[in-house]
Amino acid sequence: MLHENLGINSQNRLTFCGYDTVELAKEYGTPLYVMDEDMIRQNCRIYKSALEKNFGKGSMPLYASKAFSCKRIYEIAKEEGIGCDVVSGGELYTVYKSGFPMEKVFFHGNNKTDSDIKLGLDCKIGYFVVDNKEELVELNRQAAERNINQKILLRISPGIDPHTHKAVVTGSVDSKFGSAIETGQAMEIVKDALSMSNLTLDGLHCHIGSQIFECEPFTDAADIMIRFIKQIKDETGYEMNVLNLGGGMGVRYIEEDAKIDYGKNIDKIAEKIKSFAENNGIKMPIILMEPGRSLVAAAGITLYTIGSVKEITGFKNYVSIDGGMPDNPRYALYQSIYSVVVANRANDKKDYVCTIAGRCCESGDLIAENVKITKPVKNDTLAVLCTGAYNYSMSSNYNRLPKPPVVMVSKDKKYVAVARESYDDLMRNDL
Ligand code: LLP
Repeated sequence: MLHENLGINSQNRLTFCGYDTVELAKEYGTPLYVMDEDMIRQNCRIYKSALEKNFGKGSMPLYASKAFSCKRIYEIAKEEGIGCDVVSGGELYTVYKSGFPMEKVFFHGNNKTDSDIKLGLDCKIGYFVVDNKEELVELNRQAAERNINQKILLRISPGIDPHTHKAVVTGSVDSKFGSAIETGQAMEIVKDALSMSNLTLDGLHCHIGSQIFECEPFTDAADIMIRFIKQIKDETGYEMNVLNLGGGMGVRYIEEDAKIDYGKNIDKIAEKIKSFAENNGIKMPIILMEPGRSLVAAAGITLYTIGSVKEITGFKNYVSIDGGMPDNPRYALYQSIYSVVVANRANDKKDYVCTIAGRCCESGDLIAENVKITKPVKNDTLAVLCTGAYNYSMSSNYNRLPKPPVVMVSKDKKYVAVARESYDDLMRNDL
């Protein structure tokens, strides 16, 4: 099976975290997001212990909550003792309302509005990850108004190409994020930040991209960042305390994808980073990482009910489900490949080649093309695997479809973490 939380029971049904997925679909209705709380916790612990072991106290994972944001996930992150990365007023508000320790919240974003900045200060977050000069000036102004000193990191682009989908590459020079070392603009903004009366520049941040399977892009980025820290020390005398390496470790969407041992990867990356620091003669900074996908993707599946099975002679077989691009836009956006299983006949022969289509009024509304599954019929339950990251968080109400609920499961309990939207919810703001 693709991940250890999947199985097949004696009734030939797909199980998830020990639960019969067909029963889950019956009990909560479809489309349905199901998240495995135990796996999320286990992943948090792997990152946390690997970072602490390699880099000591203060080093920790910050959950990149754009991958999956709701009150419950922040409560879990809090209980696991990790930090959080938020990128919008909405994520910030939710993490605040969840009772999360705000000193462990890092606020990202390439264009925070003045009111986003105000909200961050109101919530007393630990760090702003400042992207640009305008933000630096405004944050300093607002901090001065409050007579406080705000800790910041600066977003730097190291100029790395991590060989992933172009929409998720974020650390190259030609990027809307941060300031590039190569062009001299990174050094400029560092000097600007050091001159701000109400800001404390504690360190640097970079994020090179997402769904990266190798260690090299991370160690290459760390190498460049550490050399930059050394250059800053030489030019200004100032030495950074924190280096945040962002997120990006890959996950296994299909059998052909490699299995990644996140703990071992961190060990490997750590070894290199320590030698870079030593070779450059700088003190070892606190190392932070911002995993999003790798904490939650494999901890999620989506369940659908199959409607029509349309065989177009000489062309394709279309299997239509009761969800689609509004609950999972990733195929439409990035042609992302998913593993798909007919959950009520999980062990049957998978020799029916088909395209899984959603129910929206456009042809691009697909979840998978040319996949091999068990020949389905109406009312079968279809499971799409590894949907815990960037599915619920990227969902929309396109075609006025209500968002599915999120049910959390663990060995000893199952519960609704986010309720299904109703038609009235859809009309809530219509005046
Ligand atoms: N930190 C920063 C600053 C980021 O921009 C991101 C992701 C992360 C951490 C987390 O990266 P992860 O560990 O999840 O790879 N919607 C796209 C993914 C966009 C990721 C953007 N930034 C998708 O569905 O593939």
